[in-house]
Order: sequence, then structure tokens, then C-alpha cells
Amino acid sequence: MNKSILIVDDEGGIRYSLRGILEDEGFEVSEAETGELALSHLADEKPDLVFLDIWLPGMDGLEVLDRIKKEWDWLPVVMISGHGNIETAVSAIKKGAFDFIEKPLSLEKVVITAEKAVEFSRLQSENKALRTRIETEQPARLTGNSSSIDSMREVIGQVAPTDAWVLITGENGTGKEIVARSIHSLSSRSENPLVAVNCAAIPEELIESELFGHEKGAFTGAEKAQEGKFELADRGTLFLDEIGDMSLKTQAKILRILQEQCFERVGGRKTISVNVRVIAATNKDLFKEIKKGSFREDLYYRLKVFPLEVPPLRDRSEDIPLLISEFITRLNKQHGFKPLTFTDSALKVLTRYSWPGNVRELKNFVERMLILFSGKEVGPDKLPPEITDGPQVEAKNQEQIPLPLPEGELDFKKARAEFEAQFLETKLKEYKGSVSKLAEAVGLERSSLYRKLKAYEIQVD
Ligand SMILES: Nc1ncnc2c1ncn2[C@@H]1O[C@H](COP(=O)(O)OP(=O)(O)OP(=O)(O)O)[C@@H](O)[C@H]1O
Ligand SMILES: [Mg+2]
Repeated sequence: MNKSILIVDDEGGIRYSLRGILEDEGFEVSEAETGELALSHLADEKPDLVFLDIWLPGMDGLEVLDRIKKEWDWLPVVMISGHGNIETAVSAIKKGAFDFIEKPLSLEKVVITAEKAVEFSRLQSENKALRTRIETEQPARLTGNSSSIDSMREVIGQVAPTDAWVLITGENGTGKEIVARSIHSLSSRSENPLVAVNCAAIPEELIESELFGHEKGAFTGAEKAQEGKFELADRGTLFLDEIGDMSLKTQAKILRILQEQCFERVGGRKTISVNVRVIAATNKDLFKEIKKGSFREDLYYRLKVFPLEVPPLRDRSEDIPLLISEFITRLNKQHGFKPLTFTDSALKVLTRYSWPGNVRELKNFVERMLILFSGKEVGPDKLPPEITDGPQVEAKNQEQIPLPLPEGELDFKKARAEFEAQFLETKLKEYKGSVSKLAEAVGLERSSLYRKLKAYEIQVD
């Protein structure tokens, strides 16, 4: 896309010649005759650069510069200085102007300054994206060797490179956020930020401005225009956590973005387009919420393009020993605790406990033991009563009995199979029917891919 420049000067001749020079270099140019007009233009449209005359009728260039730096501090401004007001130009630089050019205009200087300023602003926004990424991302590592974690890894590997929206469900502390981060880091968007928003933690009246941003003065306290999370996540992934806690009004807006990938900031008129992949998570049963009327059915079906359920820890208790040793290693590295091991019989007790708080509870437990336990090896008699006397997993083979799905319950297996079938069919076409190539691309044995294709009744030449 061409970079755009706003020229603010009361002299038509200057605007005319600047426009000519800049358009020849491939910039898109708009003009304003006064500072007031420039500001109202900026409220609607954001150029990549402003050329601003120092002497203007009405509000002068320095005042306009102050306003720009207050509201859109990232926007580079090049001052146009008349003969004899170099001193003012220098003070403009001190106020945050990027550079200045002098009248009469030198073609070469105009072009070089414009290019430098645009490059500067590109680097600035890259830095900003990098900062957002560092602030929001933690390493995503899904520990576990149970078959359910294995198949979850496989599914993550399949869905990550597609741009499909994903709805992650699961009880508290099962690892929904880790799953979301893994999907992002394995996707083609991994170079761009993953921006996480916890919908439950933001007060209802602020959530829209948090997601969509706001213009200056949109509400009391909105002293500056601000980008929302959707804009920050452009070309990346937006992780909408606790989506079941969003108001119906916000849900309607999200639905529109989903359909059109565009929105307006709060108090703004301009429609902003973004390219965002949304991964949503919830521990609520959204189907129940729909019945209660607190969640939109159409949004639910659209979000659920690819549903992924993270099983509770009690259904994969064979992961517990590995998780424990992983947490010990990680916490020791972070805090320098002493090494700690659990005896086999202690591990047995731990795998029988049902961990209602799932992996998070397990992690907190390990941390507590590292701090409180003075020995090196934890036996069953050293385990706290909330674990030894707490809720226990019943018969171990419980998970093998397929439970009938209650009426109206989400049929994740079916939805996943449908997605997989569709995915494989499209990919097979992409690889011109070559099963070997497809097998390599999706990381499956050729024979198991064949079996899958057959099961899904996908034609193989
Ligand atoms: N498979 C796993 N391997 C390693 N760590 C895990 C795993 N699953 C969860 N954790 C850890 O457990 C904690 C809880 O995980 P996470 O925040 O992803 O859960 P959640 O499902 O989003 O929870 P909530 O519903 O409460 O938001 C985190 O500290 C995370 O690092
Ligand atoms: Mg979470």
C-alpha cells in the first residue's frame, strides 16, 4: 500500500509543488489549508506523515504540532519553515517534530526527508509490536505424554497453519491459554503479536474501548485516542479469554468483525480494517448460556469453526508425574529452590486425587512443596490432607466407557472429524493428489493417512 502524506500549508503554491514532488515518488497526498482543518482531517484519517507549515493563519504550526504530539504521538511531523524562522523550526524539533525543510523547497531534501520519516515511523511501529509481543507472550509448552495430550498436539499441529478461528473449552486451569499460545506459535502469524484479552477481568463499560480502541473525547477520561486490541493484533492473533463473560452488545460487535474484519473505534466514524485470527476460550458451557439468552447463538457457531476441548487433569492422570518433574525443574530454574523428588507411592496418591483445579492446582501444589518441605524426598505421609482426603478419581478405566452425550451437548468429536476431513481434502488437492507429500506435510505415516482418508471417504487417485 502506498504511504500517505498530509500537507498543511496556507499557500496553494507550496501545496501544489509538494504534492507534485511527493506523488512522483509514489506517495498518496492530501492537503489542508489551516491547522484546524488539518486536525479534523487527522481525526478521521491517519496519514503516515505530516508536512506542517510553521506560519499558518489561525492556529499556528507549533500549536498544531502540540496537538498532534498529544493525541497521535507516533505520527511523524516535518515542519515547513519559511525564510528567517529557523529558530522556530529548531524549537519545533524540541517539541517532537521529526525534521524541518526550508522554503524555497529543494526537491531532493523533500524526498529524502519524507522517506526517512516514513521509515522511522515503520521502525517505531515494529518496535511497538515487538514490545507487545514480549509483554504478552510466555513460552508455550504443553507437557504430557498421555494419549489425550498426544492427540491434542496432533490436532494443534493441524489447525495451527490454517487460519481457522478456534474455540477452546475446558475446566479452569486445564491449560487453555497454553493451547492458544501453541496454536499461535505454530501458525504463519507467529512473527506478529499474540494479544491476549481477558474478557472477565475488564469492566463491562470499558471492554469495547479495550477491544476496538477509542477516539479522543469518546467518553470522560478519554484524553487521547487509543488503539484497541484488535488493531494491536493486526496480522497476528487475538486471544479472547473467558469469552462467556462478554456482554451481548460486545458480542454483536465481535460478530461483525468476524464477518467483515472491520469495526469503528468508540466515538470514531472511520471504519478500520484488520486481519486478525481469533482464538477464544471459555470454561463455561456456552450452550447453556445460549439457552439462558446470555450468549448469541450465531456468534457461538461462527466462533466454533474449530472446537478444541482440553480434558480435565483427572482424565489424564498419567501425565501427573511428568508435569510434577517439569514444574520442579522450571521453578528451580526461576527461584533456585533445592531439588525435590516424590516417592512412587506418593506419586500414586497424587494420581488418585482428582485435582478439581487441574494443572494450575498441581503447579501451585508443587510450588508450595518446594517452599515448605525441608527434606529431599516426599513420601505419601508428607502429603497434605486436602490431597489425601480430598476428592478421588474413581475407577481408572472410567474414561474407556463412552458416555452418551446429553441432549444438546457439544459433539466435539464429530465437529473435529468434520474439520479434519475438510482440511485433508483441501490439502490433498493442493498437493495434487499426492498422499506421500500430504503425509509428509501433516507429519503422519503414509499408511495412517491412507486409513484416515478412507475413513472420511476421500477419493484418492
Ligand atoms: N500441559 C501443560 N504443560 C505445562 N504446563 C501447563 C499445562 N497445562 C497447564 N499448564 C500450566 O498451568 C497453569 C494454568 O494453565 P492455563 O492458564 O493455560 O489454564 P486455563 O485453562 O487458561 O485456566 P483458566 O480457565 O483458569 O483461565 C499455567 O501456569 C500453565 O503454565
Ligand atoms: Mg485461562
